[in-house]
Amino acid sequence: MTAAADLCTFIDSSPTPFHVCSTVARALESAGYTAVAEADAFPAAAGRYFVIRGGSLIAWNSQAATGGPADRFRVVGGHTDSPNLRIKQHHDHSSNGLGVVALEPYGGAWLNSWLDRDLGVAGRLALRDGRLVQVRIDEPVLRVPQLAIHLSAERTSVELDPQRHLNAIWTTGSGRFLPWVADRAGILADDVLGFELMTHDVAPSRLTGSSGEFVSAPRLDNQGTCFSGVKALLAAEPVDGVVPVLALFDHEEIGSTSERGAQSDLLATVLERVVLARGGGRDDLHRMVARSVCASGDMAHATHPNYPDRHEPLHVVTVGGGPVLKINVNLRYATDAAGAAEFQSACNQAGVPLQRYEHRADLPCGSTIGPLSAARTGMLTVDVGAPQLAMHSARELMGSADVDLYTQALTAFLTPNFS
Ligand code: CO
Repeated sequence: MTAAADLCTFIDSSPTPFHVCSTVARALESAGYTAVAEADAFPAAAGRYFVIRGGSLIAWNSQAATGGPADRFRVVGGHTDSPNLRIKQHHDHSSNGLGVVALEPYGGAWLNSWLDRDLGVAGRLALRDGRLVQVRIDEPVLRVPQLAIHLSAERTSVELDPQRHLNAIWTTGSGRFLPWVADRAGILADDVLGFELMTHDVAPSRLTGSSGEFVSAPRLDNQGTCFSGVKALLAAEPVDGVVPVLALFDHEEIGSTSERGAQSDLLATVLERVVLARGGGRDDLHRMVARSVCASGDMAHATHPNYPDRHEPLHVVTVGGGPVLKINVNLRYATDAAGAAEFQSACNQAGVPLQRYEHRADLPCGSTIGPLSAARTGMLTVDVGAPQLAMHSARELMGSADVDLYTQALTAFLTPNFS
């Protein structure tokens, strides 16, 4: 259960992609990794390093690499962002005696789950002097109250309009929200020239069930992978010639197209600079990529006890049953036969069971960073994950045992003794 409890701490420290990067950076630094700025020259010496670009982070360990073209990368990928409600630029208004903050959904948030929750606010502020400052207020400031059942004609559910029904109350009368946030961050409101602020449920993550079998938490998709990925990287005792890499991208939930999403040049550029800094050339990079593999980690749908009919009947996925290989013949997931064999071998090495997921053919399948990152890097890629329920709810659920099993599988993937 320790790993599951640690996951709760990780998630509660990380309400935004920027905070995920900071949480991961702290774990890396305390294990001897060094931050490298993209504007600086990359280190010529082998070692353990990481780069942060906004809400994305790439970390690598080249200590067991020779620096030649016979080296290879083993990449664990994931995403740092989760669907949520974000603060609009002009957000202050008052309505019938209440101060209201205008919010809008980011990504495919399951809107009903955001109602009647005590919400904090977090993100980053861009200041006049060029600094970017992270803000995190874990207090119940905002709330989106739902309609009373007596005022609903249907009495079962209300259709939520993202424009009208997701604004949050935060005070009586009226007020100015951004100056209040700046003040709480110890910053002069006039110095704030830009902001990305978002809400989060302030209820702490918990282990639930009769004996803590479940993790009840926000943002399991995909901080479950961020957590297991960094654990795996730190546990990895590199195999000769292997460079373990952790690649965590922002903006997956909105399509990955940005300067720091999985469709950006971030991973390809960092890998290239790792090779060039050690004296290798472009052709060495391409030779390395040709023998490299990426496990794109994202959470997977466990079979729901109340909706078994929504799942492909021959692909039951069990909470607590171990990591999941995700396959889609139309390549919503990147997995092919070669990638599947790579991850199955990693699970065999770790002594961990592997479940296989396919979506029902008559329902639209979600996607991941896998196919996008594969197209960008040209690297063999396999989509994997850990099982969960209530994906994209403000509060999700996974199995405590799966936290460890997933971490062990990713650790073996980064330190292969089978290829
Ligand atoms: Co996801």
